[in-house]
Amino acid sequence: MHLFNVYPINNITITKAKGSYVWDDKGQQYLDMYGGHAVISIGHTHPHYVGRVTGQLNKIGFYSNSLKIPLQEELAEKLGKISGKEGYQLFLCNSGAEANENALKLASFYNNRKKIIAFTKSFHGRTSLAVAATDNPTIVAPVNQTDNVVFLPFDDEAVLEGYFKKNGNEISSVIIEGVQGVGGINLASVHFLQTIRKLCTEYNAVFIADSVQCGYGRTGKFFSHDYANVNADIYTMAKGMGNGFPVAGIIIAPHIRAKHFMLGTTFGGNHLACAAALAVLEVIEKECLMQNAEGLGNYLMDELKKIPYLMNVRGRGLMIGFDVPEELKELKKNLLFNQHIFTGEAKPNVIRLLPSLALRKKDADEFLDAVKEEIEAMVPEPRLS
Ligand SMILES: Cc1ncc(COP(=O)(O)O)c(C=O)c1O
Repeated sequence: MHLFNVYPINNITITKAKGSYVWDDKGQQYLDMYGGHAVISIGHTHPHYVGRVTGQLNKIGFYSNSLKIPLQEELAEKLGKISGKEGYQLFLCNSGAEANENALKLASFYNNRKKIIAFTKSFHGRTSLAVAATDNPTIVAPVNQTDNVVFLPFDDEAVLEGYFKKNGNEISSVIIEGVQGVGGINLASVHFLQTIRKLCTEYNAVFIADSVQCGYGRTGKFFSHDYANVNADIYTMAKGMGNGFPVAGIIIAPHIRAKHFMLGTTFGGNHLACAAALAVLEVIEKECLMQNAEGLGNYLMDELKKIPYLMNVRGRGLMIGFDVPEELKELKKNLLFNQHIFTGEAKPNVIRLLPSLALRKKDADEFLDAVKEEIEAMVPEPRLS
């Protein structure tokens, strides 16, 4: 049997990892500024995490949601405290797409409406509603196409207000990433998020904050939407939640009430997933990783802005993007193969940084030196000294 060939892959096999570093099968070390796509939140193979997950596995890894799983209550309590959303309710699932799928569905159950507002360049996942709310027609299969999703321009208040004025009573939910990830690190402005809050309240629509990539402390606040000082009705979470263990969830404001069987999943919230998610929160808290993400993120952005040729450096915390001009289009590849540094990208010309929140200043400096060295090698008249 062969693998279904859906991923264009680099010919590198990682066999070992620690902190912000990984090693391949030939012993080559790499600096991980990509965090395995924003997933590694507390650093690879963190000893507390490894201990908690293996300890749990030795007791019990899984049993069904038809019995009590006290670890779920423990997780809900801790998550409520760290995120500052203590009155919210937690539903656990397995992936970012599944979290968004459940959020959109729950919104529709809540207000008995069908229309969803999503925004240009959004990415919400690949399951049927999540992909229908994703602004990329090439990954939407005919069976997923629906008139229930409307795409409005990102960060355009006038258009959003106009749309609500005309159709407000039909809108079930508005879904938005606080910082668009796949779309290229685009920040929703504080005022735009406040406008969404105001309109959703006025028209009884549900404000869904997709925090799958930009949440869990990555931006320096627990949810990037917190920068706008507003509460969404539902937050969706995944990537950083389990530091690599597949665990996801949604937290739901108190006015949205649960009914038995309205949502459900076999694997969601299993013992092992909860142990992984608890270990992540414990480390985030103990090692002050949100503060670290904010401080180091600002440092990285300040330093990147000083490098000529890199354009439009932007982001929040350790979710950073910059545009590279045509003459540096090989930068990402050269960072990987010459400097052994993993970075992310967004089409057509954005380099995305999504490292562990436990990145250290010396790791950041190693990255900055490598970027300068590669630019000097690529442009005819380097101006970096
Ligand atoms: C903002 C956002 N939402 C949802 C998803 C989908 O998550 P998953 O791949 O875990 O289904 C992603 C994945 O990249 C994402 O970035």
